[in-house]
Amino acid sequence: MKALIHQGEKGLAGVRWAEVETPVPGPGEVRVQVVAMGLNHRDLRVLDWHSPSQPAVVLGSDGAGVVDAVGPGVSEWFPGDEVVIDPSLNWLDGPFPPENVAILGFPSNGTFAEYVVVPACQIAAKPSHLQWREAGVLPLAGLTAYRALFTRGQLQAGQTVLLPGIGGGVATILLRMAKAAGAKVAVCSRNVDKLALAKKLGADVTLHNDEDWALALRVAEPVQVGNSAEKVNLIVDSVGPALWDKYWAVLKTGGTLVHFGSTTGNEAVLPLREFFFAHWNLLGTAMGSHAEFLAMLAFVEQHQIKPVIDRTFALSEAPRALSYLAEGVQFGKVALHLD
Ligand SMILES: NC(=O)c1ccc[n+]([C@@H]2O[C@H](COP(=O)([O-])OP(=O)(O)OC[C@H]3O[C@@H](n4cnc5c(N)ncnc54)[C@H](OP(=O)(O)O)[C@@H]3O)[C@@H](O)[C@H]2O)c1
Repeated sequence: MKALIHQGEKGLAGVRWAEVETPVPGPGEVRVQVVAMGLNHRDLRVLDWHSPSQPAVVLGSDGAGVVDAVGPGVSEWFPGDEVVIDPSLNWLDGPFPPENVAILGFPSNGTFAEYVVVPACQIAAKPSHLQWREAGVLPLAGLTAYRALFTRGQLQAGQTVLLPGIGGGVATILLRMAKAAGAKVAVCSRNVDKLALAKKLGADVTLHNDEDWALALRVAEPVQVGNSAEKVNLIVDSVGPALWDKYWAVLKTGGTLVHFGSTTGNEAVLPLREFFFAHWNLLGTAMGSHAEFLAMLAFVEQHQIKPVIDRTFALSEAPRALSYLAEGVQFGKVALHLD
């Protein structure tokens, strides 16, 4: 089969569109003929994590397709079933990941190929309202967003949530989920065009990264619902240090910051006196369990939520798509489809 592999030199230089052996499903496994895929930042990071001495790896965590073959002992899936693939491996349920949790697409072979083999417990029926490319970009971002917003952030209808870096693939699905849950949503970005797009998607308040957020929230009519209404109940952040010092002026007493990415660096400053006097909750999260994946799909189906797709590339053009993702100009997800 054809696949996008990484081998040898680190970075994009080691990425190749190659002929590799078609995988065969073993006991308890299914083979999915991939129809559509999504890019994630992880795909870029894998290019540096994967050492030149390791064997070639098929890239890709996100994908959707059609079950093509089932291994011995699989009775719940049949060839022809349309499915999405849960990339959070070995974490079936429970509040926190087991020690052997892993992500599809390194070290195991991923989805950027004609076929991928995964455990049968890692797939779920494709929501019928999604087109293939929407289903292909949903899994990793949808799962991360769902757990961050609801399991960890405990977002309630009527609360206000701030979503920094709204151009992001996860942030745009967070916006759609938060609106569906009845929350008021403030977003911020480096880019005024992305703010305008977010407004069209239903954002109640748009904030440029460079403006005074506390002032802007105070004058924004839609979030004025109480005494400290100019502040937000929840911030779901993946931008990190570049914006970290702006959060504390707009987070309510008792509010929660959920963090899931380190886009602008690994170390950030937390003002400790404000932290304890304001009784804030600071929570980390990463992807989620298969139980949360199924809950996410049910939520997406119930509210007919579609991920925002910025651009679609053919799989054979994936190196160009990876460079595009690295530029950070996108609004939403970058999708791939088989040529
Ligand atoms: N823990 C997990 O389970 C998990 C899951 C998925 C992703 N992640 C991580 O979360 C992060 C976001 O993922 P994503 O797929 O949504 O990425 P993405 O599509 O590239 O979005 C990142 C967003 O961050 C903002 N940003 C980037 N550089 C910035 C800078 N220098 N200053 C201020 N803002 C900046 C941009 O928003 P604007 O252009 O609007 O400003 C950009 O759209 C990545 O670091 C990713 O690795 C973690």
